[in-house]
Amino acid sequence: MNFQLTEEHQMMQKMVRDFALHECEPTAAERDEEEYFDMAIWHKMAELGLCGIPWPEEYGGAGADYLSYVIAVEELSRVDASIGVTLSAHTSLAGWPVYKFGTEQQKQTYLRAMAEGRSMGAYCLTEPGSGSDAVGMKTTAIMDGDEWVLNGSKIFITNGGHADIYIVFAQTNPALKHKGIAAFIVEKNFPGFSIGKKEKKLGIRSSSTTEVIMQDCRVPKDNLLGQVGEGFKIAMMTLDGGRNGIASQALGIAQGAFEKACAYAKERVQFGKSIGSFQAIQFKLADMATKIEASRLLTYQTAWREDQGIPYGLQSAMSKLFAADTAMEVTIEAVQIFGGNGYTREYPVERYLRDAKITQIYEGTNEIQRLVISGYVLKE
Ligand code: CAA
Repeated sequence: MNFQLTEEHQMMQKMVRDFALHECEPTAAERDEEEYFDMAIWHKMAELGLCGIPWPEEYGGAGADYLSYVIAVEELSRVDASIGVTLSAHTSLAGWPVYKFGTEQQKQTYLRAMAEGRSMGAYCLTEPGSGSDAVGMKTTAIMDGDEWVLNGSKIFITNGGHADIYIVFAQTNPALKHKGIAAFIVEKNFPGFSIGKKEKKLGIRSSSTTEVIMQDCRVPKDNLLGQVGEGFKIAMMTLDGGRNGIASQALGIAQGAFEKACAYAKERVQFGKSIGSFQAIQFKLADMATKIEASRLLTYQTAWREDQGIPYGLQSAMSKLFAADTAMEVTIEAVQIFGGNGYTREYPVERYLRDAKITQIYEGTNEIQRLVISGYVLKE
């Protein structure tokens, strides 16, 4: 067993780290304050080939692996979790289902556009009345001639408004429950499609989160993704990978907050010594470092399993659960180490704390991850 990153993985880490430090960090606090998503950063990510890291070159991707992708999300989130989640939702939630279930034509049209960064992707499952209970969705899809007609609304859509391509799940026959659900590739310009309310959030404030509305939205029959009745399986399998994207985001948040707390512990002097020379601070830093390393091992292992074609649904629920809890614990301790300074917006750790909280909630709350994990372990 070899835990060493390959030369390619180290190159990806260095490239994204440099990009994040020079292009994202200088404006991260300002974008957070203004709740502003900067498309210029997205275009630069596209130039660097970050928008389709794990997709083959024949579909416009970088032809790299899932481990490279999670390293990229980690490095972006290390300085700005809003940018990290933008890439994570785009790749894991919108690109992945098209790559796995799309027709050749859908891949050449939509996956290629997303991989090249010409289009941004989003995933639309959650509704006002169905969050954890995803099967309870009310959005309907009815066939009319050569088109599907979608009606309903989706909420909490990451990249909403900036995305061009939306993977939408809708019910074709409520009596069939999850077996009636279908998935669709919906372009933002399709008639009847619109963006609703933009959420004002606690954290990840410079990523866009909106409502998406479909009012007699007409979708060509060729934009059905997979088969009718396969939609719920597609949604769940997509989340299996998406959850490791969130684990990578949580890992990056924890790492970034930890590094800032470490630096502060060395430079901040109280009682005539750096606060890092007190055991109270040393014990905190030791626990933080250990939990971050464990999160990294889980997250990288899940990506490695996906790269090897080994099932990873259990591992991705575990990596998200553990890394998200770690991000919360580490960022709370980072604020504590900064003391009063940490509670102010003069220092970045309060942003990391606010950003960490969402990782315990989206793509399934951590209670849902426990449900998924217990489902696997009780089956064994
Ligand atoms: N892979 C493949 N199939 C799966 C699966 C998986 N990971 N999980 C479930 N299924 C299949 C089951 O095998 C079953 O199929 P059969 O009937 O053919 O056997 C079917 O799906 C139903 O499974 P369950 O009975 O387990 O379904 P459930 O209704 O009890 O739900 C759940 C299980 C784990 C709670 C699931 O609903 C869930 O994950 N909920 C959370 C949803 C979530 O994460 N939402 C956030 C989305 S993010 C978003 O929308 C916005 C954004 O931008 C981030």
